[in-house]
Amino acid sequence: MARSCLSIILAAGDGTRMKSQRSKVLHEVAGLPMIRHVVRAAVAAGSTRIAAVLGRDGGLVERAVREETAEPAFAQQHERLGTGHAVLAAREAIADGFDDILVLFGDTPLIRPETLLRARAALVAGAQICVVGFRADDPTGYGRLLVDPDGQLLAIREEKDASDAERSVTLCNAGVMAFRGEDALSMLEAIGNANAKGEYYLTDLVAIARGREMSVTVIEAGGEEVLGVNTRVELAAVETIWQERRRREAMLAGVTLLDPATVHFSHDTQVGQDALIEPNVVFGPGVTVAGGATIHAFCHLEGCRIEAGATVGPFARLRPGTHLGPDAKVGNFCEVKNAEVAEGAKINHLSYVGDASVGARANIGAGTITCNYDGASKHRTQIGADAFVGSNSSLVAPVRVGTMAYVGSGSVVTQDVPDEALAIARGRQVTKDGRGREIAERNRAAKAAKAAKAGKTP
Ligand code: UD1
Ligand code: CA
Repeated sequence: MARSCLSIILAAGDGTRMKSQRSKVLHEVAGLPMIRHVVRAAVAAGSTRIAAVLGRDGGLVERAVREETAEPAFAQQHERLGTGHAVLAAREAIADGFDDILVLFGDTPLIRPETLLRARAALVAGAQICVVGFRADDPTGYGRLLVDPDGQLLAIREEKDASDAERSVTLCNAGVMAFRGEDALSMLEAIGNANAKGEYYLTDLVAIARGREMSVTVIEAGGEEVLGVNTRVELAAVETIWQERRRREAMLAGVTLLDPATVHFSHDTQVGQDALIEPNVVFGPGVTVAGGATIHAFCHLEGCRIEAGATVGPFARLRPGTHLGPDAKVGNFCEVKNAEVAEGAKINHLSYVGDASVGARANIGAGTITCNYDGASKHRTQIGADAFVGSNSSLVAPVRVGTMAYVGSGSVVTQDVPDEALAIARGRQVTKDGRGREIAERNRAAKAAKAAKAGKTP
């Protein structure tokens, strides 16, 4: 039977250095609050329960955690007395009894499920505790991992308590730890606060376990994976790493990115094989791009689904509720919102199509606007299959342009156009013979008179 696992996520820190009204762990990476990244990793690593230890903004953080997992446990840490004290705030959840316990920080969003699974595997292999370590170029500020020659961890020494020799160690504590659930409470309760900071250090668990002759091991992770966020500068650095990872994943999965560094993904972007993404494309949340679709340069997409063979942009904006059918086309300087654009339909230039449906193979001329908003409510525009809407037309919703209907360019359409009908809704043209020449001559004479007055000969 699979082992049960409780993941305790510490998120009671004030995050003062973020200089924010919001709790640190609610700040987003790839559009998703940091704590949700951590919960996702924990769940993907087989956690059967999540417990979050919260400080301020408790309610909002709770809501974020609930988005990722059913029946999480929450504990409030009223005073920040250290990481050991914080873990014990989740005492009730721990007492429910789990095979494995993972401790994670809510501000370390790049942690990978693979690493957590490796730490859990060490417990199965006989360790009481497994600590995730990393090699730091500059270990200042981190707890140092003091390892004996057989690879057993002897202790974790916090910076402020370390001797000079211990400070020269570059193998550091990432903050992620796995330990067995059995004996966990008695060991956590044995942690004291007789140290330089007067805090209850979770890291003391290591020396306590060794005192009981239990095995404690270390696994190493890449330094990037365990980067913690304390400032917005670090938040941006973590975002960059996340984006690099995601672009690489996308390319290895068969997506072409012409200039990867300029493509910005969201946590939930889905892109199919053989899609082509040109430079400077931003994916907001909720975008699915099918294989074989093309997103030209400088597009902003959000909450939309793009089918195979469809092309978007350059310079297009797709807003939530947009669905582009197979081989549909949305061209330059178009905005589409809450619209169903059926197979092979074309919205090629300078249009706004919102709250609309566009039938298969319909052609929407340049500068067409669906006037969906009357100042109070939104209304729908329906355009049938094989319809043709001439350039620079306004479709005043609610209105329907029928199947194979034709709208003359420059029309302001306020009434439904039946199937197969032609509608022309604009001022009639007036043509006067010779008047063009008359106007030209009059203008020329006026200019000459002006020049003569200024003392110049033309
Ligand atoms: C901790 C580790 C250190 C490790 C480093 C990695 C301890 C004693 N030290 O140090 O070995 O190298 O992380 O980044 O564990 N928190 C609470 N309540 C508290 C204290 C902390 O919720 O009372 C949370 C914080 O919000 C944060 C995390 O625990 O997310 C780590 O706390 P922090 O004070 O940053 O620990 P460090 O001193 O950096
Ligand atoms: Ca820290």
